[in-house]
Amino acid sequence: MKTKGLSEKIQELKKKRHAIILVHNYQLPEVQDIADYRGDSLELSRIAANTDAKVIVFCGVHFMAETASILCPDKTVLIPDLNAGCPMANMITTEALRKLKEKHPQAAVVGYVNTSAEVKAELDVCCTSTNAVAVINALKDKKEVIFIPDKYLADYVEKKTGRTLIKWNGFCPTHVKILPQDILREKKFHPKAKVMVHPECLSSVVAMADVVLSTSQMGKFAKETPAKEIIVGTEVGLIYRLKKDNPQKEFYPASEAAVCPNMKRITQEKILWALEELKDEVRVSDDIRRRARHAIDKMLQII
Ligand code: 13P
Ligand code: SF4
Repeated sequence: MKTKGLSEKIQELKKKRHAIILVHNYQLPEVQDIADYRGDSLELSRIAANTDAKVIVFCGVHFMAETASILCPDKTVLIPDLNAGCPMANMITTEALRKLKEKHPQAAVVGYVNTSAEVKAELDVCCTSTNAVAVINALKDKKEVIFIPDKYLADYVEKKTGRTLIKWNGFCPTHVKILPQDILREKKFHPKAKVMVHPECLSSVVAMADVVLSTSQMGKFAKETPAKEIIVGTEVGLIYRLKKDNPQKEFYPASEAAVCPNMKRITQEKILWALEELKDEVRVSDDIRRRARHAIDKMLQII
């Protein structure tokens, strides 16, 4: 008798639990392959907000699962590895943000979705890499704007909006590994290739790009551009999706060093355990959830 494979067992249990599997674009291929939906931070939040499923298995990092839980408190949100955190999100605490707000009491406070629920509860509005520029443009009447925690995303938004932001010294340890010389080298090897980069990259790298995009926007660009070769300035996990969706095109990672170890913690085996045991559940206290939700809803109204 044929024994059931992992993915088959996951599919069966998923049905039994009325669960869906949401998968970020950087996840391991084996996880992307069993996704109900793959996407960037914004897309996955929207799907979480609108699903009828009872259980959401969130394959990404902790702040993403927390965002899903904030948007659907009546659902069980599971993360298959509780240690899958985002170091950038850990670079700012509520206490530090409160101090910054005290220094600038009139400032609007905008926070990247890559923050904890506690930090989101301190924000006026949240943003993702897809909509950061639109969110700042929507705050034209505000003289001062605090933008946390990613200084490189803030730099990019400043360039696009012509505004000066009050920034925090946070950054993504994975994206800063992509250096200008990496782009130069890849361009030399592939002179016809377009360069697309994530706005979490160093400003010097962003300045060398043809396009600056979120991970799912990169997926769309890769499909729509007539270019046959693309240099990809983001976490290397995205390349799997790009190649699968565009087998006739070539994708070159700007740097093989751009790996987010936290995004690689989740495996099919851990997904099966999560569904079997219904854990680990990500939950946010009511007070934090209510305040954080306000910042997320404000973002969803803008875009
Ligand atoms: P995206 O929203 O573009 O997928 O980015 C999330 C992230 O953590 C990038 O490092
Ligand atoms: Fe956080 Fe960077 Fe990993 Fe994205 S790639 S989850 S910002 S550490």
